[in-house]
Amino acid sequence: MTASSQSVDFFVQPGGSLTGDFRMPGDKSISHRAVILGAIAEGTTGVTGLLEGEDVRVTLAAFRAMGVAATGPRDSRLTIKGVGLHGLKAPAGPLDMGNSGTAMRLLAGLLAGQPFDTVLTGDASLSRRPMDRITEPLNAMGAQMVCDKDGYPPLRIKGGRLLHGIDYVLPVASAQVKSALLLAGLYATGTTLVAEPAPTRDHTERLLRGFGYFLERRNNAVRLQGGGRLKACRIAVPGDISSAAFFLVGASISPGSHLRLEHVGVNPTRTGIINILRKMGADLRIENERLADGEPVADIMVRSASLHGIRIPEDQVQLAIDEFPVLFVAAACAAGETVISGARELRVKESDRIAVMAAGLRALGVAARETADGMVIRGGELRGGLVDSRGDHRVAMAFAMAGLRATEPLVIRDCTNVATSFPGFVDLAARAGLKVRQMSGHVRRS
Ligand code: S3P
Repeated sequence: MTASSQSVDFFVQPGGSLTGDFRMPGDKSISHRAVILGAIAEGTTGVTGLLEGEDVRVTLAAFRAMGVAATGPRDSRLTIKGVGLHGLKAPAGPLDMGNSGTAMRLLAGLLAGQPFDTVLTGDASLSRRPMDRITEPLNAMGAQMVCDKDGYPPLRIKGGRLLHGIDYVLPVASAQVKSALLLAGLYATGTTLVAEPAPTRDHTERLLRGFGYFLERRNNAVRLQGGGRLKACRIAVPGDISSAAFFLVGASISPGSHLRLEHVGVNPTRTGIINILRKMGADLRIENERLADGEPVADIMVRSASLHGIRIPEDQVQLAIDEFPVLFVAAACAAGETVISGARELRVKESDRIAVMAAGLRALGVAARETADGMVIRGGELRGGLVDSRGDHRVAMAFAMAGLRATEPLVIRDCTNVATSFPGFVDLAARAGLKVRQMSGHVRRS
């Protein structure tokens, strides 16, 4: 099906600095999981700090379509009346996962264990993202699901299957695949074990424990036994470090900046951005570290600094996987060369983030050379000009921050999807000092 809608472009005047105290919107990964687990728990789950972005809305809409009652989200609060592990109802039609890979992959795991059939669809970007990484292990658990011949959505999931636990070593480090298998494991007989080649975000595990479910972690593997119950709980979602990343880089690269970002999630499986920026010479201070509903949070202080190029350690790549678009901008503003490798997964995100970022940086006059699994960037002057985000929210926000160091105005195309992860980005960034405004763009098709 082809739909057309008016796109949004960003217009950024060059220069400026970022100052002030801000809260970031709620963590996207945790928000998805709070909705999913709240929906299949017993009792009423209250969520505060929920991300009201489009991605989380599609997850919530899917559960509403399966008979789950929820109030909100309003002022980042959501109340969900859980129906229990076996209380979901067949939806009337296909479930549209929009732009969200997390929604599609996690729901596929959950839906594998339901008594009814489902179809999961997505927008043009999601329809180009690999799903065989979940269909293969889920089918090995006894599920019956197919994607199209190239391994892309839509996903057709047969209900009424008896699942059994498996031991699975993830071929690529992916929290989405791990989470899909753990969710299917709730419905499986026996034990489901997932081993990961590198640490990936562990929000599913932390939240399952918060809902009273027993999980065991040993070295690089996590396992659970099917057939338990989830008990409703309260969840305070921390600010999203992936959203904070734009401001950490923006403040670092623009002279005279000084920001304080409050209550940001600093789960060690997500802090690659902090480790990498510090290695590049950034001035970051972490204060008031504490635990909020099982997740580490802190306030982060950042001041401008002279960044220098580095070879990014490959063990940090998965811990910063969503932050590369803005890290590439940091590298473009750093003295010398930055080398990124071991990041092939960037090619299958909301866009091919290696190709799209390299093209955008070159359009601004930066020497950026693509490699199969990364990029080599020589820092230098950023001109202004026209950059196409290709509908990728994080690419759009990364280039908006590049405006702080550009010598001419910048137009960033196709920024509508910023609302998937960071509604209100333009207002918040403008309050902090970025000279950005939003304009109606061209008509786009999806
Ligand atoms: C996510 C996991 C990561 C990340 C994505 C969110 C999650 O994807 O890039 O934005 O919430 O589990 P992979 O599992 O593909 O690494």
